[in-house]
Amino acid sequence: MDLEAVQDVKGALCPDFFHGYATAAAQVEGAWNKDGKGQSIWDTFSHTPGKVKDASNADDSVRSYDLYKEDVALMKSYGVNAYRFSLSWSRIIPLGGRNDPVNEQGLQYYSNLIDELLRNGITPFVTLFHWDTPQALEDRYGGALDQSQFVPDFVNYARVCFEHLGPKVRHWITFNEPGVFALAGYAAGVHAPARSSFRELNDVGDSSTEPFTVGHTQLVAHGHVSRLYKTTFQPHQQGTIGITLHGNWSEPWDEADPLDQEAAERAREFEIAWYADPLYRTGDYPASMRAQLGDRLPHFTPEESQLVLGSSEFYGMNTYTSFFVQHKDTPADINDHKGNIFSHDNNKQGVSRGAESDTHWLRYSPWGFRKLLNWVWARYRTPIYITENGTTAQGETAPTPEVLDDKFRIQFFEGYVGELARAVQCDGVDIRSYFAWTFTDNWEWAAGYSDRFGSTFIDYDSPEKTRHPKQSAYYLDKLFTHLISSP
Ligand code: GAL
Repeated sequence: MDLEAVQDVKGALCPDFFHGYATAAAQVEGAWNKDGKGQSIWDTFSHTPGKVKDASNADDSVRSYDLYKEDVALMKSYGVNAYRFSLSWSRIIPLGGRNDPVNEQGLQYYSNLIDELLRNGITPFVTLFHWDTPQALEDRYGGALDQSQFVPDFVNYARVCFEHLGPKVRHWITFNEPGVFALAGYAAGVHAPARSSFRELNDVGDSSTEPFTVGHTQLVAHGHVSRLYKTTFQPHQQGTIGITLHGNWSEPWDEADPLDQEAAERAREFEIAWYADPLYRTGDYPASMRAQLGDRLPHFTPEESQLVLGSSEFYGMNTYTSFFVQHKDTPADINDHKGNIFSHDNNKQGVSRGAESDTHWLRYSPWGFRKLLNWVWARYRTPIYITENGTTAQGETAPTPEVLDDKFRIQFFEGYVGELARAVQCDGVDIRSYFAWTFTDNWEWAAGYSDRFGSTFIDYDSPEKTRHPKQSAYYLDKLFTHLISSP
């Protein structure tokens, strides 16, 4: 656990740099029907046989709803100064809608959590939506597919949160990864609400249109919530509001082939600029997407475009890995959402994108992270908050001394955070936070409990979900002490 590999960047980060962990309500809270909480689409999904890899559900998960005080104490012992978590919409408004009742007990839970964090000197970063649409809204009008209904309901929910929790919160995130929500839930159909064109998998849905409709709804909903915050709450609450986008680095498979260069840029545009161009650059979707998708991609009205452009005060970035991208010589499939490309684990020379984790898509590839940071910074010139980054590691099945000494995860953090510090120090990229994914092992959506991303091992068999710290938690503390300069 020495800091040899990051000697070059000692003191590279500013004194007020935020570092800690990110989590999501549906993945850690448990208490799925306790104290008045309504069901979310993820409760429904996890209770539907065949949807989750290990046939598990998140009814209890890691019980952070009950154990939040213990968790905050543990996080403090890990030396963090910030914590990013999400609010469960259906815990706060069980039926979700603008005319539905508010659940005081739900609000009270989040208020208690925030107080506990503040008492311990940990700054809360609060996400309003991390994929868990209230089931009642899904039933009522199809959730995010119906922009005209979803937007006012989401704005109302946000208002309730700003009113009750806003006085204690300075960092708001509207949506977590609107792109993954749209693609996994409505294109691939492997996440809630489980819609796609593939009838062997899902009864309903249209992968060629719905993901783009849902993406549009989220952008417009974000725009309205941001406007509400800025006009009504920010003047006295003094916080900041933004969105978190997903995005991995796409590298040309054959560096020398202009068609692969183009394909890699197109892949970045389909994945990242789909949201980031409307928000930070043009108020519209990238030309490459319009060219491939035509009218299956919604059109911004002039009002929407104006609302969305400039509405996010920072660039929240979730990133995990890198891929090699090759062009296709055939026309794009109607259900394609990647820009008509192949993605590979090795490039033309046979160089691998990186060592395997315990998650099929995730490989250790810090070399792409610095490129990604530079690409986003050059294109959008907006301060970046890293809101998620982390890994699983092979063989983590029991809390043995070897497993708790999680060398692969330590190497991952050293590699990625080192590249982050170099992007700041050498390339002048403005980066203000790093939230590792994640604090404890948790319920990884359709992967269930099989993918362990935590810096804390969870014994799922014990009723109290015993927490066992892994060494990477202490390594991150050392790493940030080394990287952050004194005031
Ligand atoms: C992100 C997501 C997280 C977590 C992570 C690791 O896409 O926001 O909730 O699941 O991936 O798989």
